Amino acid sequence: MLHKDLKPFPDDFFWGASSSAYQVEGAALEDGKGPSCQDVKEIPEGTSDLSVSVDHYHRYKEDIALMAEMGFKSYRFSISWSRILPDGTGAVNPQGIAFYNNLIDECLKYGIEPIVTMFHFDMPAALDERGSWSKRESIDWFAEFATVLFENFGDRVKYWLTINEQNMLTLVGPIIGTLHVPEGTTNLTKEIYQQNHHQLVAQAKAMQICHQMLPEAKIGPAPNIALVYAASSKPEDVIASQNFNAIRNWLYLDAAVYGVYNNLVWSYLEEHDATPQVTAEDLAIMKAAKPDFLGINYYNTATVEASTEEDQAGVVGDQQSRQTFPGIARSVPNPNLVKTEFGWEIDPIGFRSTVREIYSRYRLPILITENGLGAYDSLTEDGKVHDPYRIDYLRHHIEQIHLAITDGVEMMGYNPWSAIDLISTHEGIKKRYGFIYVDRDDFDLKTLKRYRKDSFYWYKKVIATNGQDLSD
Ligand code: BG6
Repeated sequence: MLHKDLKPFPDDFFWGASSSAYQVEGAALEDGKGPSCQDVKEIPEGTSDLSVSVDHYHRYKEDIALMAEMGFKSYRFSISWSRILPDGTGAVNPQGIAFYNNLIDECLKYGIEPIVTMFHFDMPAALDERGSWSKRESIDWFAEFATVLFENFGDRVKYWLTINEQNMLTLVGPIIGTLHVPEGTTNLTKEIYQQNHHQLVAQAKAMQICHQMLPEAKIGPAPNIALVYAASSKPEDVIASQNFNAIRNWLYLDAAVYGVYNNLVWSYLEEHDATPQVTAEDLAIMKAAKPDFLGINYYNTATVEASTEEDQAGVVGDQQSRQTFPGIARSVPNPNLVKTEFGWEIDPIGFRSTVREIYSRYRLPILITENGLGAYDSLTEDGKVHDPYRIDYLRHHIEQIHLAITDGVEMMGYNPWSAIDLISTHEGIKKRYGFIYVDRDDFDLKTLKRYRKDSFYWYKKVIATNGQDLSD
């Protein structure tokens, strides 16, 4: 659809950026914090551990001041569960509460809206030992954690996100270091979808508790949603794309918004003897919970063709790369797209089509909670970082949001990944995303000093003009 005139970005549009606790904070075992699964996982070779990350725990004031300098209206960050509840349940760590109180207050001091993710890939290690999401009790553990968060921060935090990228936890847990496989598991698919089910119910409970305790607050999920294209107009390829769209995307949003299981996914699970145990009470909780908006992480689309039973199941690359489900869908590269240095396809137009599709299915406002370019950046001798590739990537994606707004999609804000350089899920700090450069590399902490990248100044202008001026 070609538009003659573009509608403006809303006046209260949340321009900002994102991060997650374990990827920025460091202080992994300081001030009473318990370890999370990220602190005890096997670190991928050649990448940093998460003990210091970018030391945001000690430097948050400087970091928030830089975000304020860029003109941020919002900052999306996550709260580390094991910093608040070192054992996952039970005793609350007052120093953890104090840290997030300070962080929230620091944002508010500059008029930056704190948007809080409750769970971002960092299960307390103590709960992993007790069986993690495979246990039905995990629903209550999460509800307890949610209640502590709402009690302590609900007077100031108005926007909440439940679980970051539950679909990635389910589809590619080993890549992000989160998969918990209980001893004696014989059907891994069934086990994974049981864990996924507990997360769906836990999320629904958290939304209900939020609405009861904080009637003014808004809460939503934060899955990674990206349209799956058919590789051709062959009807079989279109069926494959519907299959993979259901498995990758709609399962999570159908459950969060309508409280139902997607029928295609349910049928896939039946075929694999992998349907989770679902009680009538679970379904009632899922149906009763309603998100106020949808947090959406978008990096790139996928493309699939029809698959036969002879295909090999598996993932090629990482979370944004190619997955094959025998008899269901086989991922293939999209020859129309270029790739990042880290092999992720770049598809700004797919961003527009993805949010259009989400909005037409669910009719809820959309907050972009992640989007961004991982690249090798370098610091010049005079303290500059020239990152025109990042500016280009962001510009093209913002242009597509602008078109989507004109299409009639309700867009609440844009919080790309990431506010500041951080440790990637499995590729270390060499894969940088931030507007703010951090002087460290994977095995040398160097000065940890912060530098403004070229994209920092560019984004500042974008925000100042409410998305009107995207020029260099
Ligand atoms: C999302 C996650 O999957 O993508 C982030 O929510 C992650 O935690 C981001 O860092 C980029 O992925 P990666 O693997 O490059 O760090």
